[in-house]
Amino acid sequence: MLTPWNALLRRAQERGYALGAFNTYNLEITQAILRAAEAKHAPVLIATGSGALKYAGSEALASIALGHARAATTSVAVHLDHCTSIEEIVACLRLGYTGVMVDGSALPFGENVDLTRRAVQAARAYGASIEAELGAIVGDEDRARTHETNAAMTDPAQAEEFVRATGVDALAVAVGNVHGFYRGEPRLDFDRLREIRALVDVPLVLHGASGLPPETIKQAIVLGVCKFNVNTEIRVALFDSLRAQLLESGDYDLPKVFGTAVTAMQRVIEEKIEVFAHGQILAP
Ligand code: G3H
Ligand code: ZN
Repeated sequence: MLTPWNALLRRAQERGYALGAFNTYNLEITQAILRAAEAKHAPVLIATGSGALKYAGSEALASIALGHARAATTSVAVHLDHCTSIEEIVACLRLGYTGVMVDGSALPFGENVDLTRRAVQAARAYGASIEAELGAIVGDEDRARTHETNAAMTDPAQAEEFVRATGVDALAVAVGNVHGFYRGEPRLDFDRLREIRALVDVPLVLHGASGLPPETIKQAIVLGVCKFNVNTEIRVALFDSLRAQLLESGDYDLPKVFGTAVTAMQRVIEEKIEVFAHGQILAP
């Protein structure tokens, strides 16, 4: 069933596991997310970025995501990912989104606080959950490029001040995580994450979970990460499946070809949910 995510993340924080926020752009990815969640009896977030809304049309993509969430047998939040516009945040809240991420990370600290405060006010008016970002996460969530991890990382003292000043429900941090592919072995700054955890009590969010090894994910959960965002690996599974099918069979049976791709994406998402569960039995 459709729900905001802050209570789900708080429970995850208390019980030592994490939830997946999986980006969708269309019907097929949404189906894969929901089938994986129901197969794993796991709560999930269906995330749409501004680029996905522009591609698919906000109302069309929102109705696909919300319709699947309302019919789901597990708790499902429909979440706006990486949004820099209060107008777009309000438009999605009006459509029924139960969570939003305001992304002021490219702004100077004070302006990020001001933008985030306005987004918190809007989210509260709709009973929705709100995430913000402090520190620059390299890469763009729609393109799967390869990145170094030398972005401006989150300052722990600033994170404490930011959360107190804005009242957000969750904070996305930059500790060496990138959007897209990692160049070489991902190297997260766990000492920095530990310092942030010691000063900030809201659930922490790690974007750029594609390509993170399970051990890294588990270490991040132990240090307070309760939500991981995944996009690239899902799209890789989609395109790899379509490419293989078209090269092998040249089949133009759309339900069959895209159905097979949905199964391939579902498998990737189930594996992520498994690692994020961190051995816990999840309350669906
Ligand atoms: O906001 C989206 C996520 O951070 C996606 O990151 O494509 O590296 O999994 P990813
Ligand atoms: Zn992201």
